[in-house]
Amino acid sequence: SRAQAAAHGGFGFEPIDIATDFDIHVPEGYEWKTLVRWGDALWSEADGAYDAETGVSPAMSDKVFGENTDGMETFFVDGKELIAVNSEYVNPKINLPAASDGTPQNADEVMLLKNLQGVTVMEVAMNGGTYEVVKDSPYNRRITHETQMTMDGPAAGHALVQTNADPEGMSPKGTMNNCGSGKTLWGTYLTCEENFNGYFGATGGYDETDGLSRYGIGGEGRYAYEKFDPRYDLTAEPNEPNRHGWITEIDPTDPESTPVKHTALGRFKHENAEMVQAADGRVVVYMGDDERGEFIYRYVSNGTYAEGGSTEGLLSDGQLYVAKFNDDMTGEWIALTPEATGMSLEETLVFSRIAASAVGATSMDRPEWIAANPLKAEAYCALTNNSKRGGDAMPVNAANPRETNEYGQIVRWAPAGDDHGADTFAWDLYVMAGNPAVYDNAYGGSENVTDGNMFNSPDGMAFDSKGMLWIQTDGDDSNEGDFAGQGNNQMLVGNTETGEIARFLTAPNGAEVTGLCWNEDNTVAFVGIQHPGGSWPDGNGKPRSSIIQVWRTDGAPVG
Ligand code: FEO
Ligand code: CA
Ligand code: CA
Ligand code: CA
Repeated sequence: SRAQAAAHGGFGFEPIDIATDFDIHVPEGYEWKTLVRWGDALWSEADGAYDAETGVSPAMSDKVFGENTDGMETFFVDGKELIAVNSEYVNPKINLPAASDGTPQNADEVMLLKNLQGVTVMEVAMNGGTYEVVKDSPYNRRITHETQMTMDGPAAGHALVQTNADPEGMSPKGTMNNCGSGKTLWGTYLTCEENFNGYFGATGGYDETDGLSRYGIGGEGRYAYEKFDPRYDLTAEPNEPNRHGWITEIDPTDPESTPVKHTALGRFKHENAEMVQAADGRVVVYMGDDERGEFIYRYVSNGTYAEGGSTEGLLSDGQLYVAKFNDDMTGEWIALTPEATGMSLEETLVFSRIAASAVGATSMDRPEWIAANPLKAEAYCALTNNSKRGGDAMPVNAANPRETNEYGQIVRWAPAGDDHGADTFAWDLYVMAGNPAVYDNAYGGSENVTDGNMFNSPDGMAFDSKGMLWIQTDGDDSNEGDFAGQGNNQMLVGNTETGEIARFLTAPNGAEVTGLCWNEDNTVAFVGIQHPGGSWPDGNGKPRSSIIQVWRTDGAPVG
């Protein structure tokens, strides 16, 4: 009722309790149902491709929904509803039941793992009151490690991105470890390449450069791909890793389109890409680099965008900046120009981390998603946690104030003059997560954290059209010790005016909640459930990462 909503910070639901089980819970008056699970067919020929004992067959692995769903966006085209969605990573032990240690034993197994990653574009439609995937839709598409792409921006074609297979350095193949997402003002999908480093390894000698080590690349690959495919072998193709770690743009409305890697936006472990507009019409993209002690970036185009106008050069011709959060709660965007970094423009973009360190950027507690308020000039970044914060190597600072930060915080900034194009901002912490039942110091969290809404490790975030901030978690769900009373990972809603936060959904134990988008009238929210435990959602066999749909039984907008 309206009275209840008013009593809870404008939330249109009664907040729910924590859970510790292997199920989904939503507020009274809401229901949920799976939309699509890992292994579900996108085309009829893949019907039955998933087996509860053995998983997905290699032959059908690029014709089904991938594993470990993450960032996603909805698109509304010619009366059709499309979802573009990432499959962040593949769990080898779940997908390769015959390989006892989860290491692929042959090229076919590598191909299976590769195909279950990447991006899916799929049409969805209502059928009998809930959404389902439209099998065989002409829009359906899988984009994998093998999909032919192109590059633009200053580093495209540079020696650093040339390989034996692509001596021009303009035709990279594939996208991998796609974590968060973004949507352009012109209706395309941005997929963000995060922990790409783990796919590369060396079968022999290689040059151990700072450019490799700063990104955690070297030695044996985490997935042994290099043993079966020279593309992933640093000994054979030392520049191949430089072709990953980019923001990649996909046109979901054209299955024949070639995805583009935008080098102007920098190369790091990209979480998501939040696009807004400067007061003068330039395009602004906020981006986080999810690693302990890494940075928050901003890209500003040189050209301007007006609805329906040209998009030429908007993501290839512009300036990359990195954030400095001063202890007096002011901040500035430092331009990563060759003059400032002491590196060439191409090196500055390919090795953005090194460039950003050179200009004195502020080291953050693992920047995950950034979300911009649609009603106000401000942006929020989830700083998920940081076990390494503290001491001389990574001292605390005002925006990252707690040593051994196991709970995380959300920082927000308001650009000067309400203009995302401005080079200075004011910042504060919207919330410091914590456990007030265990600690009565900073680890108890900020004032808007209570016994009734506590959580750890904020990660996914998105604003809805009403200006409410949805927060998804990817943390410790043991419900013990420092995490007692926090239960399974969850999705909460924050009122950013009052500070209040209310728990909306709890995930099955083992899962993180990541990825959130809505249908056109906001009556259905699509929510990603990644790496669930138990045998969710089928109740038998393997756990299956899935997108669920959540709706109000009275048909009103979600939230
Ligand atoms: Fe893939 Fe930083 O989360
Ligand atoms: Ca994440
Ligand atoms: Ca995370
Ligand atoms: Ca994840």
